[in-house]
Amino acid sequence: MINNVVVVKNLKKYFPLKLPWLEVVLKKEKPVVKAVDELSFSIKEGEALGLVGESGSGKTTVGRSIIRLIEPTSGDIEINNTNIVNLKNEQLRQARKEFQIIFQDPMASLNPYMTIGKSVMHPLEIHNIGTPKTRKEMVLELFRRVNLIPEKEFFNRYPRQLSGGQRQRVVIARAIITNPKFIVSDEATAMLDVSVRSQVLQLMLEIKKEYNLAFLFITHDLASAKYICERIAVMYLGKIVEIAATRELFENPHHPYTKILMSSIPVPDPNFKKEKIIPKGEIPSPTNMPTGCRFRTRCPYVKKECEEIDMNLEDLGDGHLSACPFFK
Ligand SMILES: Nc1ncnc2c1ncn2[C@@H]1O[C@H](COP(=O)(O)OP(=O)(O)OP(=O)(O)O)[C@@H](O)[C@H]1O
Ligand SMILES: [Mg+2]
Repeated sequence: MINNVVVVKNLKKYFPLKLPWLEVVLKKEKPVVKAVDELSFSIKEGEALGLVGESGSGKTTVGRSIIRLIEPTSGDIEINNTNIVNLKNEQLRQARKEFQIIFQDPMASLNPYMTIGKSVMHPLEIHNIGTPKTRKEMVLELFRRVNLIPEKEFFNRYPRQLSGGQRQRVVIARAIITNPKFIVSDEATAMLDVSVRSQVLQLMLEIKKEYNLAFLFITHDLASAKYICERIAVMYLGKIVEIAATRELFENPHHPYTKILMSSIPVPDPNFKKEKIIPKGEIPSPTNMPTGCRFRTRCPYVKKECEEIDMNLEDLGDGHLSACPFFK
């Protein structure tokens, strides 16, 4: 049996809304943005779970909350059999060697005044892994692995002396140097040119296999998610609306929102006519969500009953879950 590395249960992240003080005093309930609302999912070792959905759906908030870069409002987050929600500062610091995050902009996540060799060595020092000599060897070996060659020359370079793709390789090396169990990648290849992007995606795929990593792969780009992920979760306004094995989701989407996402992917063959489904209107304000199904205000198949449904994920078999009771 393959173990779950990540188990998230009923995760919520509500951001308090900044309002003029008088409005705050007059309102009974404190106004909040429900960025993530009652999310549950798990990721096994060696498995990549994609998290897709349009801008503002809450993907980044999930990625940051589950490794406590921001504090969740409530919920349980187990990583490697430890519930990290209750860990205090020092325990959390130690636990951090098991999980890392890769952001979209490597320039912003690397110290511009530190050589990349030192940047990648830094987590080893923080977690007291190896000796000063073996640490440098570990970095050089990893530079070879992520194709920063000649590795000794790269060790002494600064981030500004690298291309975007090379910088993202540095960030990947830094994320895996402590031998973690779990990596969050938040749009890690979004800023790269197409050709560089596919090389970096290939590297991430190889690293995932070699290190048997659990991966949460956050992206706008369904094609990248398809390439990397065994399963994909689709988010809309703070909720997972559908989750399934990648191939199953592409071939047999159930939720109207997933159908729309799938129909928006360009098809390379001009003779193949794909039905394009267009959602109605704009994404609602997250401070004023529709009652019942949050997608109902834009859903082309909306019915009266949609005002009442609670968006619970229902298992349709083989781990395919959907929050729409009308498309099964
Ligand atoms: N620090 C914050 N304070 C208040 N609201 C926030 C904060 N961070 C995010 N939000 C809100 O939470 C919601 C989800 O944002 P989030 O960045 O998680 O979405 P996303 O799916 O990652 O979007 P994108 O695809 O644009 O990166 C949005 O409505 C956003 O405005
Ligand atoms: Mg985001």
